[in-house]
Amino acid sequence: MGGGSAPQGEPLDTLVVGLFAAAGPSIPAPPALSALLGADLDTWMQQRHFKAKPGECLTVHRPGETPTTLILVGLGDEAAYGLINLQEAAAAAARAAADNRATSVGLAIPPGPLTPAEAARAIAQAVRLSLYEDQRFKSEPKPGRQPERVALIGLPADADAGLATMDATCAGVELARQLVAAPPNVATPQHLADTAAAIAREHGLSLQVLERADCEALGMGAYLGVAQGSDLPPKFIHLTYRPEAGASRRVVLVGKGLTFDSGGYNLKTAGSQIEMMKYDMGGSAAVLGAARAIAQLKPADVEVHVIVASCENMISGGAVHPGDILTASNGRTIEINNTDAEGRLTLADALVYASRLEPDAIVDLATLTGACVIALGEEMAGLWSNHDGLAAALLEAGEASGESLWRMPLRPSYKKGLKSGVADLKNTGPRPGGSITAALFLQDFVSGDLPWAHLDIAGTVWTEKGRSLDPSGATGFGVRTLVAWVCHGAPLGAT
Ligand code: BES
Ligand code: MN
Ligand code: ZN
Repeated sequence: MGGGSAPQGEPLDTLVVGLFAAAGPSIPAPPALSALLGADLDTWMQQRHFKAKPGECLTVHRPGETPTTLILVGLGDEAAYGLINLQEAAAAAARAAADNRATSVGLAIPPGPLTPAEAARAIAQAVRLSLYEDQRFKSEPKPGRQPERVALIGLPADADAGLATMDATCAGVELARQLVAAPPNVATPQHLADTAAAIAREHGLSLQVLERADCEALGMGAYLGVAQGSDLPPKFIHLTYRPEAGASRRVVLVGKGLTFDSGGYNLKTAGSQIEMMKYDMGGSAAVLGAARAIAQLKPADVEVHVIVASCENMISGGAVHPGDILTASNGRTIEINNTDAEGRLTLADALVYASRLEPDAIVDLATLTGACVIALGEEMAGLWSNHDGLAAALLEAGEASGESLWRMPLRPSYKKGLKSGVADLKNTGPRPGGSITAALFLQDFVSGDLPWAHLDIAGTVWTEKGRSLDPSGATGFGVRTLVAWVCHGAPLGAT
């Protein structure tokens, strides 16, 4: 990867040029480009009805010439241009170049309101993540689509500084995508623990894995209740990054790690996507991917704990019954009125454990509710928090990294929906506002006013069609926001 005003070394086979949409009937071609190509670009664009909408591509083949392929990519309206359109354009152009089997690609995409370093990072990240392919489970894998060489054209040479964090973040996103895409007979609780062990070994983090007996000793009845129907042993994972020079702040990242969610005795039925419930460990994939990136980036002055209470939600003679009452590790009793609301039970004990670490903030990520998908669709994750500064810092981290979060209400009165006649609370409230009662349930297990935020990523963890820099399949959603929040932001906001 090289920035700078001119590509170095061998000539590039593919040149990508970003163009803004224009108010008039046609987009004027930059004169320098027309001169370079010796071709009438204006006519090309008119004939092919190129409007420069964000991500719209026009490929011009030039056999025998250099570059052999020119790709014009739309940037949309200049007034609305920012990170989102820049990434969309870079990703679309990268896909068009790869479809053309490009091996060396130069991209001339303007930074707009971003600094050159931010733009360089965003373009490079979009190229790498949009061309990511997972061939692990194919018997005859095809060659990858990544170009051998990518050059950023028109950015000052020092823009390369932005690329340092790019590699670590992309590797974290790729790890998360791999974990989510792996089938449930591969990505088991043991596999998550092994993955945490590999991160710990390769990057010098410390790891503790609590076995069933350890969790019993801690009284984690909610988590173990979910795990008890499975033949696979639960693994409670606690991975820790500590900077060498010590830290004045401590944060905990908690991820839901259901490696398969059948629903339990409230079995998922047709239309409830039971065959997709391998992705119910998307929260754990995001926190493990973030851990990998953080371990490589080594941020100063912040200690990061990653916690995953992983298990499966299955059916057997020993599985939890609808109606059972479980006791969590803080002593709260929970009536299980629906075994399919299992994620919150595992998170309950994980949040009690996280609270005991006395951190400055806890953030959990979970594919928690179908209700959140209904509310926000697939492009935005729901954000709930008891702390405005933390919520603002996370929204900003999401914005800066191209992941969208939308703050949702933690309305105390809705807690009534979780009242139980026999236990302290039920695990499921009424269908309306289902993602809100789920968040309120979690809050019950966070100690006092400890700053805490919950991200419901049920809609964003997977994409059937692909979007922006996510190819179809697992997105790795959450990694970029967490890395930005831990490594670049003030965890509790500006104040
Ligand atoms: N893992 C699911 C949530 C989910 C649903 C994620 C669809 C992604 C897509 C969760 O464990 C669940 O089953 N939630 C129930 C809660 C209900 C029983 C209160 C749901 O959303 O239907
Ligand atoms: Mn469920
Ligand atoms: Zn689930």
